[in-house]
Amino acid sequence: MQICRSTQEMRACTRGWRAAGARLALVPTMGALHDGHLALVARARDWVEAEGGGRVVTSIFVNPTQFGPNEDLEKYPRNEPGDLALLRQAGCDAVFLPGVADIYRPGSQTHVEVAGLGRMLIGRLRPGHFRGVATVVTKLFNIVQPDAAAFGEKDFQQLTLIRQMVDDLDVPVQILPVPTVREADGLAMSSRNQRLSPADRAAAPVLNRALDHAQAMVAEGQPLSQVRRRIREILRSEPRAEVQSVDIRDARSLMRVASLSAPVVILLAVRFGDVLLIDQRVAQP
Ligand code: PAJ
Repeated sequence: MQICRSTQEMRACTRGWRAAGARLALVPTMGALHDGHLALVARARDWVEAEGGGRVVTSIFVNPTQFGPNEDLEKYPRNEPGDLALLRQAGCDAVFLPGVADIYRPGSQTHVEVAGLGRMLIGRLRPGHFRGVATVVTKLFNIVQPDAAAFGEKDFQQLTLIRQMVDDLDVPVQILPVPTVREADGLAMSSRNQRLSPADRAAAPVLNRALDHAQAMVAEGQPLSQVRRRIREILRSEPRAEVQSVDIRDARSLMRVASLSAPVVILLAVRFGDVLLIDQRVAQP
């Protein structure tokens, strides 16, 4: 597995592979890898194999521009040796580990902003977050120049926004969505789970329980107001959970829905201490 610590090294590596006819798939991450990330690597591997062979590149970069001033950038978990061991086992071909100064050079003036999708929902809770995400993903795409890139459905708004950006800007990268990987008790895997206290960790599966109920209620055609009320009741049954938002939106556009006709996505953001957990579920009426 190649380890590239600068843009130059990364470009040299992918230039050689592309010249040899390989298709490339990228998995962008911020590290502290778990089985959810590895499912993306597996999806990327399957995609290149189906295309007749190619290479999988994973990037690990804790992107400062997607963290707000009072967010957990400093506390974000980092584990480079562990990450590299997992990626080797997963059959990744190259890892891109740039430094902050390599990605953000002084005097830079350009950002990528998806105006509608970037400002709603989590974009409202975390102003500037999605501008940081869209900008760094564009830069990673331009450095690695992949044919495809894998993103998790766990970050549903992020996946929707990246699809919109790729479509709006004619970016020649195919987006590969990957279903959420969960712990045995239903908690969606996340690098942030490591920062939960034992009591909060025990309480956190309440998100998945609330989503299971909500999904069943939507399938039965129950009114959205009742679905919303039931979700809040279930979340409130866990006193450690501080509910930040409960949203039911159109699964494609993330616009508000008045009644149930097309598939919806139920989006939860819940705080435990200073750790913000998100989870989602697509539900069919
Ligand atoms: P990060 O939180 O490290 O996640 C990297 C990718 O892994 C994202 O596409 C995310 O949706 C996916 N992922 C995380 N947990 C998952 C799970 N339990 N099941 C399936 N997929 C999961 O998302 C980011 O980093 C950053 O915003 C990034 C896109 C790298 C830009 O900086």
